[in-house]
Amino acid sequence: MFSRYPTAWMEELRARSDIVQVISGYVALKKNGKKYWGLCPFHGEKTASFSVDEERQLFYCFGCKASGDVIGFLMEMDHLTFPEAVETLAERAHLPMPEMEDDPDYLRRRSQRERLLEANRQAAVYYHEMLFRPEGLPSLQYLKGRGLDNAVIRKFGLGAAPDQWDALTKHLLSQGFSLEELSLAGLTVLKPARDGGSSPRAFDMFRNRAVFPIIDVNRNVLAFGGRSLEKQEPKYLNTSDTPVFNKRRGVYAANLLRQQRHLDRVILVEGYMDVVALTQFGVPGVCATLGTAFTNEQARLLKRFAPEVHLAYDGDSAGQHAILRGLDILEQEGIPVRVLDFPDGLDPDEFIRRDGAEGFRNLPRLTPATYRLRRLRDQFDLSDPEKRVQFARQAAAVLDALDPVEREAHLNTLTVETGFPREVLLEQMDAHHQASGGSQTPGVPRNPVSRLPARRSASPPVSEETVAEEQLIGILASGQIPKDIVEEKDFGDEELKSLYVNLSSGVSVQDLVSYAPDESSRSRYTRILMAPPARDTDELIAMAHECVNRIRKSKLKKELQQLVERSGKASGEEAEALMRKAQEISRQLSLYSGSGVSP
Ligand code: UTP
Ligand code: MN
Repeated sequence: MFSRYPTAWMEELRARSDIVQVISGYVALKKNGKKYWGLCPFHGEKTASFSVDEERQLFYCFGCKASGDVIGFLMEMDHLTFPEAVETLAERAHLPMPEMEDDPDYLRRRSQRERLLEANRQAAVYYHEMLFRPEGLPSLQYLKGRGLDNAVIRKFGLGAAPDQWDALTKHLLSQGFSLEELSLAGLTVLKPARDGGSSPRAFDMFRNRAVFPIIDVNRNVLAFGGRSLEKQEPKYLNTSDTPVFNKRRGVYAANLLRQQRHLDRVILVEGYMDVVALTQFGVPGVCATLGTAFTNEQARLLKRFAPEVHLAYDGDSAGQHAILRGLDILEQEGIPVRVLDFPDGLDPDEFIRRDGAEGFRNLPRLTPATYRLRRLRDQFDLSDPEKRVQFARQAAAVLDALDPVEREAHLNTLTVETGFPREVLLEQMDAHHQASGGSQTPGVPRNPVSRLPARRSASPPVSEETVAEEQLIGILASGQIPKDIVEEKDFGDEELKSLYVNLSSGVSVQDLVSYAPDESSRSRYTRILMAPPARDTDELIAMAHECVNRIRKSKLKKELQQLVERSGKASGEEAEALMRKAQEISRQLSLYSGSGVSP
């Protein structure tokens, strides 16, 4: 039933991926009793209710019911799909992916990827070292001139591309990289040989520029951005897409985001310099897109790091346009968002150097509606009655998407601005709502709250029988219970029955959890499978008997009750037969009340 990856390979992967070690990379864990405990990374809390069971290799949060195995943890923590989580663990454990092991193309791609990342890493080291040599002095002076100190230069690994044709290329060739690799990595530009020559001419991609390495969450150097020192165009030269870099996917400073735990928001800016400057002033959680429009993929990446995103784009018209687009995308992804409102058309770098960290903290954080309404207002001359009507119409469309409380706050302002009474505005909203088929303005959810990830709900009340079945499964999972103690038909709950069948056919606890059909089943399985504290075998067997007895007893009781009810309604022979059956059942029941040993 679990055939996605070969069982033996999955076993090897799990054996090499200890859940305590993996989770310790994210959560500070302390051993207490049989389990490790820490603050749950999936919901805010001050006392540790997040537990990790080393023996079973499972985690469970008693607060929010998050649960699963090591794969499930990575999926939830880093928003990975199952195969992505498996691949991440395999990479971490240096375990080659299965079925691909013999695929030469996969091996070639993989080793090429590793070669290119290594070339990039060496290039980053080279540029950084150059910054403090005479060849890098112009870059260093430039960066210092922009107010950067040594600490922040080191934090971002900033560097200098010397003013030479092929200094880096020569250096990397001497390290054993080929021209083809350097060109694939986007470090070297190849030009056809001049007439007569046989080999192509090779130049460094970045020359006479201050260099910003782009590093991903796994600390791979993916690419570079190079800032011109004077007025040369382009102002920023970036690595174009390569086998290891896709600029629509990552963000600048993702590596630093990952190191910062418990961010309450990520700040998204437009420029490399903005990230570096804000970080230098102590603002946490800053990152930037890479010179392209913000994508859904990037939004999902940011969601890994904080529950909310603040857009801190330039005040110019390109920036304003990008904000509207960013709002749409973040709302599509269900991520709460605010817009930081920079005065005087300043960008974040300029602003924080002028007004300091304090000024930055006090910047207005506009809600999406406030921002959209402000943008609309700027488009219309409100002294013109006709424009006022147009403004009111479009503003009503924005309000239509809001929850009642926020809508109310804006309605008052709008009545003043447009001169229309609130009844008219409300009617206009209704009209818009009808016209758009009761649906939403593109990209504007009617009620953003409904888009938030569903909260885990408390489980429904369970019967006594089900409780016993759950306990029994937990005990059986210890693998110490003789098979004949219990039968498939003892299980009334379908889910538990299938857990039983799988456990007895040798499926591991981790597989049961990771292949659970949905999140609530997964949480239930984990709770059940983690439950019994390890005891000695005799004690476990006694517990198993006790559960089985409780289950069988409660079934018999139910049966008896039904028989008695039916016989009360029946007459003659039928009633007599039912009574006889009932007697037989109560005889069976009496066997349980004494010793508690199975019949
Ligand atoms: P900006 O021009 O706003 O950058 O471009 P900035 O960070 O404020 O630049 P400084 O302060 O003048 O040094 C924003 C981003 O757009 C991309 C870069 O990623 C830059 O950080 N960009 C800009 C380019 O890729 N190429 C360019 O020529 C200009
Ligand atoms: Mn700038």
